[in-house]
Amino acid sequence: MKKKRRRSKAQRFAALDELNQGGGNDEEILTAISDEAILFHTPSRESFASVPVGKHRENWPVQSKEFALWLTKRFFDERHRAPNPALLRETLYQIDARAQFGAREEEVFLRVAGDARKISVDLCDPQWRLIEVSRRGWKIVARPTVRFRRAPGMLPLPSPSPRGSIEELRPFLNLRPACPPADDWYLLIAWLTAALRPRGPYPILILGGEQGTGKSTTARLLRALIDPNTVPLRRPTRDERDLMIAAGNSWLVSMDNLSRIGTRFSDSLCALSTGGGFSTRKLFSDADEALFSAQRPVLLNGIDDLAERGDLLDRSLLVSLPRVAERKRLAEETLWRRFEKAYPAIFSGVLETLSRALGELSRVRLRTLPRMADFARWGVACERALGWPEGTFLAAYERNLRAANDQAIEASSLGPVIVEYVASQPRSRWVGTSGELLEGLLQHAGRRAGGDRHWPRSPQQLGQLLRRLGVNLRRGGFEIRYWRQGKQSTRMVSIRKVG
Ligand SMILES: Nc1ncnc2c1ncn2[C@@H]1O[C@H](COP(=O)(O)OP(=O)(O)O)[C@@H](O)[C@H]1O
Ligand SMILES: [Mg+2]
Repeated sequence: MKKKRRRSKAQRFAALDELNQGGGNDEEILTAISDEAILFHTPSRESFASVPVGKHRENWPVQSKEFALWLTKRFFDERHRAPNPALLRETLYQIDARAQFGAREEEVFLRVAGDARKISVDLCDPQWRLIEVSRRGWKIVARPTVRFRRAPGMLPLPSPSPRGSIEELRPFLNLRPACPPADDWYLLIAWLTAALRPRGPYPILILGGEQGTGKSTTARLLRALIDPNTVPLRRPTRDERDLMIAAGNSWLVSMDNLSRIGTRFSDSLCALSTGGGFSTRKLFSDADEALFSAQRPVLLNGIDDLAERGDLLDRSLLVSLPRVAERKRLAEETLWRRFEKAYPAIFSGVLETLSRALGELSRVRLRTLPRMADFARWGVACERALGWPEGTFLAAYERNLRAANDQAIEASSLGPVIVEYVASQPRSRWVGTSGELLEGLLQHAGRRAGGDRHWPRSPQQLGQLLRRLGVNLRRGGFEIRYWRQGKQSTRMVSIRKVG
């Protein structure tokens, strides 16, 4: 196989030589050069070329500036001048057709690829090397067989030190002191390593806390270990289209200072984390559609009022950062200088953890599965990989979910009122029509309901809100039942506090 490739390369050079000596025309030279490219198209039918550059290969869309530049440069090498623009265009057109109709389909990846056994991470370095991680360890691969593409803004990961430890990351993170013990550390490490797995569902990491608690810094640090980018934190977008562009151009989607999240945007974030597809997919082309079903790790910060968004919270890890003690606060420059020094060792620790957790994963069996069951298993694999005390990850995850759940109830107008109202009933049980429930709640809420524009105005609205909040209430220990009764088939509700 190798022999054949070498011979054909030699043949190609001979052909170019002959063309050059015999005064072959520009078209023939360009065609001979384009034979150096391996052409293929992606499942969403984008034409790609894998081209030799120095000792490595690079993958570029045929219609990209980079590919045209490569062709021009190779032509320049041969002729010491640029090709005629019309001829270049024509050649590109022909190459495009060959990639589409005369070449095979191949998948091209962004930053992370692989399966349950082997993960490839694109280092994005000038030599186009990548890292392969399996349960046996990790290694740098100089001549990858997996094809990666590069989007604008992607930055290289560090070349990992031979040895390192994820513990070296700890001093850079401003986490709550150990109460409950190290919960946030466990969750962050599980999230960070899960973000380097090729498939989700990925939990959404939400960093909370006041101004100056290090939310943006933490988000940047975590990003640097997964998918560094010239724009590490995007400004919030509210639009599915922006979100999709973000997901197309980087592996990790990270947004800074996101204040409020609307229902649609929240749904899109959920779709991105679990791969459900966006709600507005009709607007987009087929190529875009492929992205819609993509799953991406998501990192958000700065949301104070996230939410009535129960389904977002179900998929999220909420890590709330404490104030940075004045004497501990570092100027950004100092912090980053220190991080740069530790960076290759920390990254090495991340890869080591990833590798060991891959080894543990198949042996992890859970009796009960939370909403993000796959992530829960991964977290337990990390626990075993890093020797955390047994059971600590799941305990931390459950505490986090419960806190998120309480927050979802608290954040809604209706939640706290329902909780109190039902608790004030005999045997903590309420039964009646939804109209009666609305009335009872209104009376109980008193002035609280008056100025609140989210307060339900009709039994129908109450029904909708209840259904949305129902998940959280049930998790919070409430039993809710709906049924119809009597000739009028009146809507009935019962809410009961159990346990
Ligand atoms: N772990 C840390 N240790 C020391 N100083 C930190 C740490 N994290 C952040 N800082 C410093 O705190 C300041 C505020 O950080 P920033 O990330 O902008 O906070 P936020 O986004 O929450 O407002 C910055 O000057 C940053 O250098
Ligand atoms: Mg900030």
